[in-house]
Amino acid sequence: MNNYSEKSAHANDDWTIDQAWESYSKAEHQVWDTLYARLMQVLPNRAAPEFLNGLEALNLHRGGIPNFEAISDELEALTGWRVVAVPGLVPDEVFFDHLANRRFPAGNFIRKPDQLDYIQEPDVFHDVFGHVPMLTDPVFADYMEAYGKGGLRSLRHASLKNLAALYWYTVEFGLIQTDNGLRIYGAGIVSSPAESKFALEDPSPIRIVCDLVRLMRTDYRIDDFQQTYFVINSYDELFRATVDTDFAPLYADLKGEFDLRPEHVTTSDSVLHLGSQAYAERGGRFADA
Ligand code: PHE
Ligand code: CO
Repeated sequence: MNNYSEKSAHANDDWTIDQAWESYSKAEHQVWDTLYARLMQVLPNRAAPEFLNGLEALNLHRGGIPNFEAISDELEALTGWRVVAVPGLVPDEVFFDHLANRRFPAGNFIRKPDQLDYIQEPDVFHDVFGHVPMLTDPVFADYMEAYGKGGLRSLRHASLKNLAALYWYTVEFGLIQTDNGLRIYGAGIVSSPAESKFALEDPSPIRIVCDLVRLMRTDYRIDDFQQTYFVINSYDELFRATVDTDFAPLYADLKGEFDLRPEHVTTSDSVLHLGSQAYAERGGRFADA
């Protein structure tokens, strides 16, 4: 969350810009359609039902990069959230303030055709396809607003790092237990065909039941598949565990640091799958073919 592009001259004080939907080229809409079609090969029976329902509810399959105004009108009617355009990553305080006011800031640019599998900065595909469907779920929508408010508070405690881990391991890379088995709901997973399979099926990563304090102690990978995934039992449980806990004493204990490596397993963990870490040990994304 820390580094961000220079504020563009045309941006508003809250860093929002016009999405300029009319300016997307045919090739850019095509990138969206290609990615969408790829994900549809892997997400049925892997993504959480709330995510798949959200895609339907917002008609995200209608083709091409969505117009933020149009999907915001539909989303607002469901849960009161809107999607606003930003040039890319924005400062933490600006980001949290948007979430706290039920606005999801989404990058308006789309990756190039040679970046289909991996990009560093979140683009409109990651932000809208990955994040926005879950905002149609009333409980998850409330969690995201609460997270924004908690984010503003964490800045006053110099504890952003620990709170950022919570976003990372839930909003971006979360798994959920369902009656039909494990499902993915994290935006970073559902927007990646490869990680959608890896997170659920690969023997490498550790999968443990989500515990708030344990999670906030844990470092994470930003440049490769996760080494550990935290599994929630329900969005409601996640919401209650975070909203009903005063983070101030936790922040004081954690001191803005992580004391667990991404691949660490502790004796008190409730382990669903003890990962082999074979993928990471081979060198992950950087291993030679
Ligand atoms: N309860 C948290 C606090 O005291 C705020 C929070 C709520 C953080 C939900 C994240 C998610 O700061
Ligand atoms: Co994201």
